[in-house]
Amino acid sequence: MRVVLASGNSGKLRELGSLLAPFGFDLVSQSTLGLQTPPETGTTFAENALLKARHAAAMTNLPALADDSGIEVDALGGRPGIYSARYAGEGASDQANLRKMLDEMREIPASQRTARYQCVIAFVTTATDSAPILATGTWEGTLISEPKGLEGFGYDPIFVPSGLDRTAAELGAGEKNSLSHRGQALRALVTELQNRRKSPIQ
Ligand code: IMP
Repeated sequence: MRVVLASGNSGKLRELGSLLAPFGFDLVSQSTLGLQTPPETGTTFAENALLKARHAAAMTNLPALADDSGIEVDALGGRPGIYSARYAGEGASDQANLRKMLDEMREIPASQRTARYQCVIAFVTTATDSAPILATGTWEGTLISEPKGLEGFGYDPIFVPSGLDRTAAELGAGEKNSLSHRGQALRALVTELQNRRKSPIQ
Protein backbone atom coordinates (compact mmCIF):
# COMPACT_ATOMS: atom_id res chain seq x y z
CA MET A 1 0.00 0.00 0.00
CA ARG A 2 1.44 3.37 -1.02
CA VAL A 3 1.25 5.89 1.84
CA VAL A 4 2.17 9.58 1.49
CA LEU A 5 4.42 11.06 4.13
CA ALA A 6 3.36 14.69 4.59
CA SER A 7 6.93 15.89 5.04
CA GLY A 8 9.81 16.74 2.74
CA ASN A 9 12.38 15.56 5.29
CA SER A 10 14.39 12.66 3.79
CA GLY A 11 15.63 11.57 7.25
CA LYS A 12 12.04 11.12 8.44
CA LEU A 13 11.18 9.21 5.25
CA ARG A 14 14.06 6.74 5.75
CA GLU A 15 13.37 6.25 9.47
CA LEU A 16 9.59 5.86 9.16
CA GLY A 17 9.87 3.88 5.92
CA SER A 18 11.93 1.07 7.44
CA LEU A 19 9.77 0.82 10.56
CA LEU A 20 6.52 0.73 8.62
CA ALA A 21 7.60 -1.60 5.79
CA PRO A 22 6.46 -4.70 7.79
CA PHE A 23 2.89 -3.30 7.60
CA GLY A 24 3.06 -3.27 3.81
CA PHE A 25 3.52 0.53 3.79
CA ASP A 26 5.42 1.85 0.81
CA LEU A 27 6.13 5.41 1.99
CA VAL A 28 6.35 8.18 -0.61
CA SER A 29 7.33 11.70 0.41
CA GLN A 30 4.82 14.42 -0.48
CA SER A 31 7.52 16.45 -2.22
CA THR A 32 8.10 13.55 -4.66
CA LEU A 33 4.41 13.92 -5.58
CA GLY A 34 4.75 17.70 -5.97
CA LEU A 35 2.78 18.49 -2.80
CA GLN A 36 3.46 21.34 -0.40
CA THR A 37 2.73 21.46 3.32
CA PRO A 38 -0.47 23.47 4.00
CA PRO A 39 -0.37 26.38 6.48
CA GLU A 40 -0.17 24.95 10.01
CA THR A 41 -3.24 26.74 11.33
CA GLY A 42 -4.04 24.33 14.17
CA THR A 43 -3.65 25.28 17.83
CA THR A 44 -2.26 21.92 18.99
CA PHE A 45 0.33 19.43 17.74
CA ALA A 46 -2.49 16.94 17.07
CA GLU A 47 -4.51 19.42 14.99
CA ASN A 48 -1.49 20.33 12.90
CA ALA A 49 -0.42 16.71 12.35
CA LEU A 50 -3.98 15.82 11.35
CA LEU A 51 -4.47 18.75 8.99
CA LYS A 52 -1.19 17.92 7.22
CA ALA A 53 -2.16 14.23 6.89
CA ARG A 54 -5.70 15.03 5.65
CA HIS A 55 -4.37 17.55 3.15
CA ALA A 56 -1.85 15.03 1.73
CA ALA A 57 -4.57 12.35 1.51
CA ALA A 58 -6.98 14.78 -0.19
CA MET A 59 -4.41 15.80 -2.79
CA THR A 60 -3.26 12.26 -3.62
CA ASN A 61 -6.17 9.92 -2.84
CA LEU A 62 -3.69 7.85 -0.84
CA PRO A 63 -3.50 7.07 2.90
CA ALA A 64 -1.24 9.62 4.61
CA LEU A 65 1.04 10.04 7.57
CA ALA A 66 2.20 13.33 9.14
CA ASP A 67 3.97 14.41 12.30
CA ASP A 68 4.12 17.64 14.25
CA SER A 69 6.54 18.34 17.05
CA GLY A 70 8.09 21.05 19.17
CA ILE A 71 9.45 22.02 22.54
CA GLU A 72 7.50 23.38 25.54
CA VAL A 73 9.51 25.40 28.06
CA ASP A 74 7.91 25.78 31.51
CA ALA A 75 9.61 29.11 32.31
CA LEU A 76 8.13 30.49 29.06
CA GLY A 77 4.62 29.32 29.89
CA GLY A 78 4.89 26.41 27.43
CA ARG A 79 6.24 28.45 24.53
CA PRO A 80 7.33 28.01 21.78
CA GLY A 81 5.27 24.78 21.51
CA ILE A 82 3.66 24.44 18.09
CA TYR A 83 5.65 27.51 16.98
CA SER A 84 9.06 25.89 17.68
CA ALA A 85 10.17 25.85 14.04
CA ARG A 86 9.29 29.56 13.62
CA TYR A 87 10.20 30.75 17.13
CA ALA A 88 12.61 33.43 15.84
CA GLY A 89 10.31 34.27 12.90
CA GLU A 90 8.84 32.66 9.77
CA GLY A 91 11.51 30.56 8.02
CA ALA A 92 14.00 31.03 10.90
CA SER A 93 17.04 28.74 10.98
CA ASP A 94 17.64 26.24 13.81
CA GLN A 95 20.55 28.42 14.86
CA ALA A 96 18.43 31.58 15.09
CA ASN A 97 15.78 29.73 17.10
CA LEU A 98 18.44 28.36 19.47
CA ARG A 99 19.98 31.81 19.94
CA LYS A 100 16.58 33.30 20.78
CA MET A 101 15.95 30.52 23.30
CA LEU A 102 19.33 31.12 25.00
CA ASP A 103 18.51 34.83 25.15
CA GLU A 104 15.05 34.38 26.66
CA MET A 105 16.36 31.86 29.20
CA ARG A 106 19.42 33.87 30.26
CA GLU A 107 18.02 34.95 33.66
CA ILE A 108 16.18 31.71 34.46
CA PRO A 109 17.81 29.74 37.34
CA ALA A 110 18.80 26.08 36.87
CA SER A 111 15.89 24.81 39.01
CA GLN A 112 13.34 26.42 36.66
CA ARG A 113 14.72 25.31 33.31
CA THR A 114 12.48 22.29 32.75
CA ALA A 115 11.17 21.60 29.23
CA ARG A 116 9.78 18.80 27.10
CA TYR A 117 9.69 17.80 23.48
CA GLN A 118 6.29 16.74 22.17
CA CYS A 119 5.45 14.79 19.02
CA VAL A 120 2.15 13.68 17.49
CA ILE A 121 2.02 11.40 14.44
CA ALA A 122 -1.30 11.26 12.54
CA PHE A 123 -2.31 8.48 10.14
CA VAL A 124 -5.43 8.68 7.95
CA THR A 125 -6.64 6.14 5.40
CA THR A 126 -8.56 8.85 3.48
CA ALA A 127 -8.91 12.65 3.73
CA THR A 128 -12.21 12.26 5.58
CA ASP A 129 -11.17 9.24 7.71
CA SER A 130 -13.37 9.48 10.84
CA ALA A 131 -11.06 7.26 12.92
CA PRO A 132 -7.55 8.61 12.37
CA ILE A 133 -4.68 7.24 14.46
CA LEU A 134 -3.02 9.88 16.65
CA ALA A 135 0.15 8.55 18.29
CA THR A 136 2.01 10.74 20.80
CA GLY A 137 5.39 10.94 22.51
CA THR A 138 6.82 13.22 25.22
CA TRP A 139 10.50 13.62 26.17
CA GLU A 140 11.22 15.48 29.43
CA GLY A 141 14.45 17.35 30.14
CA THR A 142 16.10 20.62 31.16
CA LEU A 143 17.74 23.40 29.15
CA ILE A 144 21.36 24.32 29.75
CA SER A 145 22.86 27.72 28.90
CA GLU A 146 25.86 26.59 26.78
CA PRO A 147 25.18 24.51 23.63
CA LYS A 148 26.95 21.13 23.61
CA GLY A 149 27.18 18.42 20.93
CA LEU A 150 26.93 18.28 17.15
CA GLU A 151 24.32 15.57 16.53
CA GLY A 152 20.56 16.02 16.17
CA PHE A 153 19.08 19.39 15.24
CA GLY A 154 16.97 22.25 16.57
CA TYR A 155 17.14 22.70 20.33
CA ASP A 156 19.11 19.46 20.91
CA PRO A 157 22.42 21.18 21.87
CA ILE A 158 20.80 22.70 24.99
CA PHE A 159 18.29 19.92 25.83
CA VAL A 160 19.51 17.50 28.52
CA PRO A 161 17.05 14.58 28.71
CA SER A 162 15.94 13.61 32.23
CA GLY A 163 18.22 10.93 33.67
CA LEU A 164 21.15 11.77 31.36
CA ASP A 165 24.13 14.08 31.80
CA ARG A 166 24.55 14.74 28.07
CA THR A 167 22.54 16.87 25.66
CA ALA A 168 20.38 15.32 22.95
CA ALA A 169 23.00 16.60 20.49
CA GLU A 170 25.56 14.33 22.18
CA LEU A 171 23.49 11.18 21.55
CA GLY A 172 23.89 8.93 18.51
CA ALA A 173 20.86 8.66 16.22
CA GLY A 174 19.97 5.18 17.53
CA GLU A 175 20.14 6.26 21.16
CA LYS A 176 18.10 9.38 20.45
CA ASN A 177 15.42 7.37 18.63
CA SER A 178 15.15 4.91 21.49
CA LEU A 179 14.33 7.75 23.91
CA SER A 180 12.91 10.66 21.93
CA HIS A 181 9.38 11.99 21.61
CA ARG A 182 9.42 11.06 17.91
CA GLY A 183 10.66 7.51 18.60
CA GLN A 184 7.97 7.06 21.27
CA ALA A 185 5.23 8.33 18.95
CA LEU A 186 6.42 6.06 16.17
CA ARG A 187 6.37 3.00 18.44
CA ALA A 188 2.88 3.97 19.64
CA LEU A 189 1.77 4.19 16.00
CA VAL A 190 3.19 0.74 15.26
CA THR A 191 1.39 -0.70 18.31
CA GLU A 192 -1.91 0.83 17.19
CA LEU A 193 -1.46 -0.47 13.63
CA GLN A 194 -0.80 -3.94 15.07
CA ASN A 195 -3.94 -3.70 17.24
CA ARG A 196 -6.08 -2.67 14.29
CA ARG A 197 -4.71 -5.49 12.19
CA LYS A 198 -5.80 -7.94 14.91
CA SER A 199 -9.22 -6.35 15.29
CA PRO A 200 -11.91 -7.60 12.83
CA ILE A 201 -13.90 -4.34 13.30
CA GLN A 202 -11.35 -1.96 11.77
P1 IMP B 1 8.39 19.91 12.74
O1 IMP B 1 7.56 18.96 13.54
O2 IMP B 1 9.26 19.19 11.73
O3 IMP B 1 7.60 21.05 12.21
O4 IMP B 1 9.48 20.54 13.75
C1 IMP B 1 9.11 21.41 14.75
C2 IMP B 1 10.30 22.10 15.39
O5 IMP B 1 10.40 21.63 16.74
C3 IMP B 1 11.67 21.85 14.78
O6 IMP B 1 11.96 22.78 13.79
C4 IMP B 1 12.57 22.06 15.98
O7 IMP B 1 12.75 23.42 16.20
C5 IMP B 1 11.73 21.52 17.12
N1 IMP B 1 11.99 20.08 17.32
C6 IMP B 1 11.12 19.05 17.15
N2 IMP B 1 11.70 17.88 17.42
C7 IMP B 1 12.98 18.17 17.74
C8 IMP B 1 14.09 17.35 18.10
O8 IMP B 1 14.04 16.11 18.16
N3 IMP B 1 15.23 18.01 18.37
C9 IMP B 1 15.33 19.36 18.31
N4 IMP B 1 14.35 20.17 17.97
C10 IMP B 1 13.16 19.57 17.68
